[in-house]
Amino acid sequence: MVIPSNQALIDGELYVPGLPAEYVAERFGIAPADVAKLGSAENPHGASPKALAAVKEAESRLAIYPDWTARALRTAIAEKYGFDPDGVVCGSGETEVISMVIRAFAGPDDTVLMHKPCFPLYRIYAHCEGRRPLYAPMGPDFEFCMDEYLALLAQRPRIAFLTSPHNPCGRLMEIDDIRRVCEAADDATLVVLDEAYIHYSETEGGMHLLREYPNLIVLRTFSKAFGLAGLRIGFGIANNVGLIDPLRRIKPTWNMGQVQIAGGVAGINDDAHVARAVQTIVENRAYVASELAKSDRFSMVPGSRSNFFLTRILDPELGATHVFNELLKRGVIVKDGNDIIGLGDRYLRVDVNLKKHMDRFLWALSEIRPH
Ligand SMILES: Cc1ncc(COP(=O)(O)O)c(C=O)c1O
Repeated sequence: MVIPSNQALIDGELYVPGLPAEYVAERFGIAPADVAKLGSAENPHGASPKALAAVKEAESRLAIYPDWTARALRTAIAEKYGFDPDGVVCGSGETEVISMVIRAFAGPDDTVLMHKPCFPLYRIYAHCEGRRPLYAPMGPDFEFCMDEYLALLAQRPRIAFLTSPHNPCGRLMEIDDIRRVCEAADDATLVVLDEAYIHYSETEGGMHLLREYPNLIVLRTFSKAFGLAGLRIGFGIANNVGLIDPLRRIKPTWNMGQVQIAGGVAGINDDAHVARAVQTIVENRAYVASELAKSDRFSMVPGSRSNFFLTRILDPELGATHVFNELLKRGVIVKDGNDIIGLGDRYLRVDVNLKKHMDRFLWALSEIRPH
C-alpha cells in the first residue's frame, strides 16, 4: 500500500553526507583512528571540554521538559554578541533554522536565491516546501559574481542566501558585498547570511551589519569550531526581532533538549577550544596548499578561508567519483563533486584536519592511477 505524500518530497533529491569513519575502517580493514575523515568539516580536536562537562551535569534534568524557547541558550548567545535574546532563535543544528526560515519567509512557488554550487540543504528544503530555487552562478575559481547575483536579486526573490565562508569553495565574502545585497534587497527580500564557518576566516564576520540592516538575519552553528556537531545546535540572530518572531512560532515546540541547551550555554564561551581549532586549521590549510602546489595532477582552488577547500582534478584521465573511491580504499573520506549540484566531475571537497590526516590525503592522492 502506498499512501501518497507531498509530491515535492518524492521528487526531491537526498542530501549526501560525508561517510562515517567506521564504514571505511570495516570495509577496508583500516584502524578507525587512522582514517582521515575529511568529508564532514568537523573539529579536529573534538568537542568543547566546557560543553562536555555541562552535558554531563544536565543528566539530572532529563526527566524535565526544557524551556521551549531555550531561553538560557538564547540569552548566552545574545550576551556573547551584544543583541537582545528575543532576536535569537535556536534550532537542532543550523539546518533546522534554515528549514524554518524557508517555511516562514517564502510561500509556495516563491523563489529563493542561492549560489550554484551551495550548501545543498538550501535547495533541498526549498524544494521540499514547494519553493523555487533561483541559482546565481560563480566564477571559474568560484568567485562570487556580484553583478549576476544582484541581477537575480532584482527579480525580488523572497529569500537571498549568502554563505560566508562559502560551502563548498571556502571563500569569504567582502563586507561591502554583503552590504550591497542588503541594500538592494530592501524590504522585498530577507537576506540570510550563513556564517557556519566564520571562525576559520579569522574575521568577526558580518554580525555587526545586523544593526544597520533590518532585512538581515545571520545563521551560525555549534557544529564546527565549537566541536559539537553531534549535539545539534544552531541559531539565527537578528537585530530586528520581528524577523525572529515568525520563526519561533513555527519551530517544533521543544526542539532543543536539556542537554543541547546546557552544552550550548557552556560551549559558546569556550574561546580556548575555538582558538585551538582555528590555529590547527589555519596552519594545516597553508601546509596542504603548499604541498598541492607541487602537483601537476591536482590543485587547490584558491581562496579558502574555511576548514575545507576544493581540490581540482587536473589529470584528464581521472574523474571525481573514481578519485573519491580510490581515496576511500586508502582510508581517506572526502566529498565527491558529483554529489554536489554545480560542482561535478572535476572537484572534490576536502576538509582541513590534523597534519597526519592531511599527509594521508596527500599520499593517497599521489597513489591514484586511472582505471
Ligand atoms: C554552510 C552550512 N550551513 C549550515 C550547516 C549546518 O550545520 P548544522 O546543522 O550541523 O548546525 C552546514 C553543515 O555542513 C553548512 O555547511
